[in-house]
Amino acid sequence: MNIKIKPVKKIVGELSVPGDKSISHRALMIGALALGPTKIKGLPESDDCNHTAKAFREMGIDIREESNTTIVEGKGLHGLKKPADPLYVGNSGTSMRILAGILAGQRFDSTITGDTGISARPMKRIVEPLSMMGVKIRAQGDGEYPPLAISGGSVKPITYKNLIASAQVKSAILFAGLYSKGTTKVIEPVRSRDHTERMLKYFGAKVKISGQSVSIKGGSELRARAVEIPGDISSASFFMAAATLLKGSRIKMLNISINPTRAGILKVLSRMGADIEVVNKKKLGSEPAADIIVRYSKTHGITITKEMVPSIIDELPVIFVLASLSKGVTTIEGVGELRVKETDRIRSMQDGLKAMGVVFRVKGDSVMIEGIRSLKGASLQSFGDHRTCMALAVAALAAEGDSDIEGTESISKSFPSFFDILFKLTLT
Ligand code: S3P
Repeated sequence: MNIKIKPVKKIVGELSVPGDKSISHRALMIGALALGPTKIKGLPESDDCNHTAKAFREMGIDIREESNTTIVEGKGLHGLKKPADPLYVGNSGTSMRILAGILAGQRFDSTITGDTGISARPMKRIVEPLSMMGVKIRAQGDGEYPPLAISGGSVKPITYKNLIASAQVKSAILFAGLYSKGTTKVIEPVRSRDHTERMLKYFGAKVKISGQSVSIKGGSELRARAVEIPGDISSASFFMAAATLLKGSRIKMLNISINPTRAGILKVLSRMGADIEVVNKKKLGSEPAADIIVRYSKTHGITITKEMVPSIIDELPVIFVLASLSKGVTTIEGVGELRVKETDRIRSMQDGLKAMGVVFRVKGDSVMIEGIRSLKGASLQSFGDHRTCMALAVAALAAEGDSDIEGTESISKSFPSFFDILFKLTLT
């Protein structure tokens, strides 16, 4: 599907965005492994989360909707049953990688498959540590690609020093560790998002966090808890960028996740000179949330070092857009992981922004963007990637001349209502 986007003057209004995708996956997974009914409020309508829910239904977990609440009837750590067929997770990397850690602990054989997009995404990063834990796990193409065939049931605790900061890898190891006798520890170069450890702890697991390492003691039963999912800061970031770039804008976003391992975008925007206010801070279960107000402001280029990248990994496409319209040069170091997301997001964003007139250089794992006064409308491609699509839509709103974007169906992965919400806020 294609969409035509006309430039707009500003965006104004109050909005909510769908529940955080990462937290939602964990709520479904941990709810299924806990004892008793976990009631989840605010689960988003997204393809990825639907795939996680479907996988657990196929393993005998009742997941149903009752008056705006999702109820997961958890059956305990060993309550899952062998699925009749391979578990199909579509395009969801989070489902595939974390589920592999959970299946490592089950006393049955299983297979996880996905669509053609996910079949090209790297899996050795979980296959290696899970194999070190004694799990029989096989991938295709030299152990790198899905499908994954797992013979679970006997897991040894390990201490694993990960060379990349990846919450999906960390979570797979922690879940497998839950099924071992002893303590499993993951050490990261920089802390990745910590939703798994927060929620496991909230459900009663023995989890310890110290600096860049997290450990879990195997064997502790999880007890069902109520979970309220805050709005997804990754989805909110598109509106933050649009409000910052369009003169006269003012938006208020309600109940957004501000987890420090995720909310690097707030720091980046402030350093670039954006006008951001975080108000009404609260805790929703194991996660912090707040309302975020953003007004138009002039911005300038900055240097973002690699330590910052894990906390903005999914926001980088829209940060590239902001940098394109900020005064001076923005340099972002250590963004190599973007090459193995739903598409190569360095290439997809370079392709789109270059077509709009931006000087976008790539040197090794660093990106350098020279800000320009105005973007020109262009024919843009999403490359089947939801975040490339939404980031380019923001660029198109702030451009001179109309644009069209191909592949808008990709947004159903995380934020199917993106364009509906956006067009309600835009004033031409
Ligand atoms: C996610 C972790 C990140 C992120 C992805 C969701 C998660 O991936 O890019 O969208 O929910 O754990 P990595 O952990 O591979 O960096």
